[in-house]
Amino acid sequence: MSGPGRTLVVVPTYDERENIESVVARLRAAVPEADVLVVDDASPDGTGALADGLASADDAVHVLHRDRKAGLGAAYVAGFGWGLSRGYDVLVEMDADGSHQPEQLPTLLAALDRADLVLGSRWVPGGSVVNWPASRQLLSRGGNTYVRLALGLPLRDATGGFRVFRRQTLEAIGLDDVASTGYCFQVDLAWRTQRLGLTVVEVPIEFVERQYGRSKMSGAIVREALWRVTVWGAGRPARAWQRRREPAREGG
Ligand code: GDD
Ligand code: MN
Repeated sequence: MSGPGRTLVVVPTYDERENIESVVARLRAAVPEADVLVVDDASPDGTGALADGLASADDAVHVLHRDRKAGLGAAYVAGFGWGLSRGYDVLVEMDADGSHQPEQLPTLLAALDRADLVLGSRWVPGGSVVNWPASRQLLSRGGNTYVRLALGLPLRDATGGFRVFRRQTLEAIGLDDVASTGYCFQVDLAWRTQRLGLTVVEVPIEFVERQYGRSKMSGAIVREALWRVTVWGAGRPARAWQRRREPAREGG
């Protein structure tokens, strides 16, 4: 087989009725060899039923129904588990609201030949954000700066959600103990990958603010990210100190 292998694009949804059909159609057109898994948390607006309709019309489209809104991170853990157990080689994260453009996915997939994790990045040269309010840009830039300083994570966009994992990367970092339920799931997985010494490559993307529906970002999600990143960061000096005490490193 040519290319990176069997690919599954995991698309979490909560109230994305106006978006789900067009994003899946664009995905199928842009990356016809990839399968799609919609992970819907019992959206009150009927997104799950719309996704079922797409799945019954197209064998490459699948739906995982969950019984309640349990957060973006939990939805991805479930979706990745679904894909790993079915033998997919490449697992993709993508939002359902059109902010991540399916037409840019081939570029991300191509970068996997030199990476274990490819991040679609808004904050590297060539990356951009369209129609985001200044407040949201500030939150993203500020969040990424905090992540860089607190965790020593040398990434420009560790919070973004358009990314490509090798199966082996997800197996190596382990998903069983991922406790991040909200958007800090993104930081969690990037940090786990980098700490294992795996290669993380950032590829510029254009992030376009959604036209329909509403963001699920909330104060609770920001607070979870802030406390988790702070706790992880506080644990860093102890780990660095332990590493220094390990004998036979660097030969003096
Ligand atoms: N199943 C499920 N459960 N899906 C969810 C949930 C949930 O609890 N919360 C959000 N989603 C889905 C949305 O339906 C959408 O498809 C995607 O996750 C992203 O949610 P948005 O609410 O549109 O996120 P955003 O645009 O505010 O945030 C974007 O930027 C963040 C910060 O950079 C996303 O790209 C995030 O992934 C990113 O962390
Ligand atoms: Mn969005």
